[in-house]
Amino acid sequence: TRAVRILGIETSCDETAAAVVERSAGGAGRILSDVVLSQLDLHAAFGGVVPELAARSHVSMLDRLVNQALGDSGVPLGDIDAIAVTSGPGLIGGLMVGLMTGKAIAMATGKPFIGINHLEGHALTARLTHQVAFPYLLLLVSGGHTQIVLVKGVGDYERWGTTIDDALGEAFDKTAKLLSLGYPGGPAVEKAAKAGTPGRFRLPVPMRKDPRLDFSFSGLKTAVRQMAEAETPLTAQTVADLCLAFETSVTASIDDRIGMALERFTERFGTDLEPALVVAGGVAANAAIRATLERRAAAAGFRFIAPPLALCTDNAAMIAWAGAERLAAGLPVDDLDLAPRSRWP
Ligand code: KG4
Ligand code: ZN
Repeated sequence: TRAVRILGIETSCDETAAAVVERSAGGAGRILSDVVLSQLDLHAAFGGVVPELAARSHVSMLDRLVNQALGDSGVPLGDIDAIAVTSGPGLIGGLMVGLMTGKAIAMATGKPFIGINHLEGHALTARLTHQVAFPYLLLLVSGGHTQIVLVKGVGDYERWGTTIDDALGEAFDKTAKLLSLGYPGGPAVEKAAKAGTPGRFRLPVPMRKDPRLDFSFSGLKTAVRQMAEAETPLTAQTVADLCLAFETSVTASIDDRIGMALERFTERFGTDLEPALVVAGGVAANAAIRATLERRAAAAGFRFIAPPLALCTDNAAMIAWAGAERLAAGLPVDDLDLAPRSRWP
């Protein structure tokens, strides 16, 4: 293989993003440009992402973001090797905007077009920033997804566990909302929890010791609601105590689930190769969760790899990189009639 340069486009949720990424013949990644426009302000008043507003905003912003990403990269469009676009899963309106734009560029330039599964983007990001060999274990924790995935190779994944109700970021967001902490809730809950009194409220640890490697968070959110309702008036201190109880219980559940997953990985692959635990998704910003993963990985003899935060949250560099990895692996590119998939495991 030779070095490839890929233009990536991401519009599956509430960030409009474009990037140019290079992958060397040896497999090293380099981000040549990476622009992300968050729609946070647009949706904040509604306490969550409004799909129609998101799609309209992608329409009005994407062209100039693509131009900016190309300009910043210094790579003329003619020298780009392929266009990689998130084709699912996500909000259908946004996906259509990204696909139409990517296909138009591919058609106009005659370059190959590659539809990327957003989750594959998250799953492969660690290889853009670090030297990580297959297989490795991935914990993906975002607003839309909570999964433990065995990454065996490019396009070769085994899902070991998923949430049976809310995604973890979603649980943070809902908990913040019911405690009137605003949106997005993850950072707000984490901040409030810092002032919390340990042990004042106790919440169960969901799924503890369950042999399926799944997660469940909606019961916690309901428990927090009931505890909050029993407290009148609901003081700032009580809110902080509830946030700490929530974060503590979530962290213990992740520790338990990941501990079991690392054991299974070791049973299957041994410890000869230096195994790695990789985290991705916006919830990876949470310091308590990160520290717990780091500790658990070290205890099990795993390297712990967390890509820089800007690459953990939604971005187009990860989409461009997934396209580069697919090209390098010799996987087929897509036709221009590729359809978006709002659901795509
Ligand atoms: O990956 P991401 O940016 O978007 C997708 O969902 O794809 O993740 C956003 C999620 C939100 O639910 C947000 O509340 C959560 O990540 N989050 C956090 C923290 N920062 C962001 N959750 C807990 N603690 C944080 N510090
Ligand atoms: Zn994501």
